[in-house]
Amino acid sequence: MATIESILHETRVFSPSAEFAKRANISGMAAYQALCDEAKSDYAGFWGRLARDHINWHKPFTRVLDESNAPFYKWFDDGELNVSWNCLDRHLATQGDKTAIIFESDEGEITHCSYRELHEQVCQFANGLKSLGVKQGDRVVIYMPMRIEAVIAMQACARIGAIHSVVFGGFSAKSVHERIVDAGASVVITADEQTRGGKHHALKATVDEAMSMGNTDLVRAVVVYRHTGTDIGWQPGRDKWWHELVEGQASECEPVWVNAEHPLFTLYTSGSTGKPKGVQHATAGYLLGVMTSMHWIFDYQPDDIFWCTADVGWITGHSYVTYGPLAMGATQVIFEGVPTYPDAGRFWKIVQDHKVTTFYTAPTAIRSLMKLGPDLPQQYDLSSLRLLGSVGEPINPEAWMWYYTEVGQSRCPVVDTWWQTETGCHMIAPAPGAVPLKPGSCTLPLPGIDAAVVDEAGHEVEPGYGGFLVIKRPFPSQLRTLWNDPERFKRAYFPHDIGGGRYYLAGDSAHCDKDGYFWIMGRADDVLNVSGHRLGTMEIESALVAHPYVTEAAVVGRPHEVKGETIVAFVVLKNKLPQGDQVAEITATLRDWVAKEIGPIARPEEIRFGENLPKTRSGKIMRRLLRALAKGEEITQDTSTLENPAILEQLKQPAP
Ligand code: WTA
Repeated sequence: MATIESILHETRVFSPSAEFAKRANISGMAAYQALCDEAKSDYAGFWGRLARDHINWHKPFTRVLDESNAPFYKWFDDGELNVSWNCLDRHLATQGDKTAIIFESDEGEITHCSYRELHEQVCQFANGLKSLGVKQGDRVVIYMPMRIEAVIAMQACARIGAIHSVVFGGFSAKSVHERIVDAGASVVITADEQTRGGKHHALKATVDEAMSMGNTDLVRAVVVYRHTGTDIGWQPGRDKWWHELVEGQASECEPVWVNAEHPLFTLYTSGSTGKPKGVQHATAGYLLGVMTSMHWIFDYQPDDIFWCTADVGWITGHSYVTYGPLAMGATQVIFEGVPTYPDAGRFWKIVQDHKVTTFYTAPTAIRSLMKLGPDLPQQYDLSSLRLLGSVGEPINPEAWMWYYTEVGQSRCPVVDTWWQTETGCHMIAPAPGAVPLKPGSCTLPLPGIDAAVVDEAGHEVEPGYGGFLVIKRPFPSQLRTLWNDPERFKRAYFPHDIGGGRYYLAGDSAHCDKDGYFWIMGRADDVLNVSGHRLGTMEIESALVAHPYVTEAAVVGRPHEVKGETIVAFVVLKNKLPQGDQVAEITATLRDWVAKEIGPIARPEEIRFGENLPKTRSGKIMRRLLRALAKGEEITQDTSTLENPAILEQLKQPAP
């Protein structure tokens, strides 16, 4: 990648307050730099020290990193531990009565669960799984609502060394089926239904449909948690009620001590092409990653009330709901519902009611709440907040500023955390008591993370120029392989031509500024080439969103004979859809605006307006669909993961 013009010109900088810095786990830039230096001078010593500091080992390790079979790296590989023991048992003596989970249901019902209670429920359920014959190394598919039981199911698997594979509750039967088969699951755990935004969605019926699609003979049991109590189909012998399974089970369950490299879970994620990839994480390295990032980036303090809004169906929910907060002994909020039900103040009400200190969500949620209720945060008491976080996609500076000033009242640092399913935990993100913030930048790598921006040959590019984001040295929390597909693992993440097969290739494009700050420009495949100029879609989108008319925008390339590509923008306005003459008028305004903000080269050729954009249920804009729409193609791709399929019709019409 020769040059991607970096065109984002953000100059605002926000340094941590003295008060925040004083209390922080990484206090000041010198402390941050000292950790980076420690990693640089003795890489194995650094990670070995952290692994001893954070994790309780059943059998201590003597080796830190084994690179002999790169890129199949091993960490701490002669040590033994159990993740569930680290998340639960080790807190019992000192804080068994501390609330582990404050659960709030879709309808606002609140349940508190202490570490002791959670431990007991996990043990009972683990014993239940054992009674079904589940043993170490078996795969268990979990397809659950966002409730305490989802965490219990995952923790119970970890306790007995079973490998869970959580499927997000919004996925279709076809996706559930694909994952059951690929994982070779012996048990599926589900619920009758889930409730989100006042609506019920079937889960068990979807599992039944998936089970009827063939090749599911390995599945011995389907465990069903009764949530809404609706009538469901039942296959005697195969189907078991959760409450009957745990009835009479002992409330202690000796953990299975596993090797550090034992797979903890797989999680399927989409690649740029082909079938979903079963990203496989190991036990110790993953646990270490989520704990160090809780400590450094979320600056975890024992009196925190932590709330990550992600569903456990995604990596963010794995790392910062099921594992990270519990490993730290934190109190966390788990919320079943959606940000806009019963109204757009729901998140702020939850923060107020539970005195949340640390709030972690996605830019798409921030933008939608900014649109629906820009002044709503002021109507709630958000004084408990001390830290805000963002994840999942680049956060455009305008949304960042709203989040910072309106939600955080200019008091709370915003940690924009760049990472991926594959990396297991934060990779590039500010240590909030040290690193000055720049809106729109995920700032600097975590200590020990050797991130860089390189060209196609693997050479680092100059500041200001875009390229491929890579991580040059192996790190403990990285994926170990793709389930059943080690070749694809090597090909996709350690390609030979970039860094000789040694660099982890993230698949994102990025650039660094002169201060070494990273700016994610989007997926490497979302880069446009217009008349020989490469442009990051993200930057054009940021420009559009910076216009007062615009709430959200997505930009894709359309092949063009002369220019290579032209830019098509899909735009959601703050006001309702433009009619008649307004369309041409607003289009012209926005095209000129982008040309002015970035340069004439970035002027969109076409702008289409919609009430929304096609998004996955996790809130990611599905650009491949937009690319097809821009080209005027019929949509033949799978749209089962779309939150709002109807939007495609609206965006299909070319602008007049
Ligand atoms: C994008 C989610 C910019 C990026 C944890 C990455 C981000 C992909 C950020 C991984 C961020 C995630 N800034 N882009 N702070 N966080 N991304 O696997 O393109 O669902 O490659 O993991 O999301 O998505 P995934």
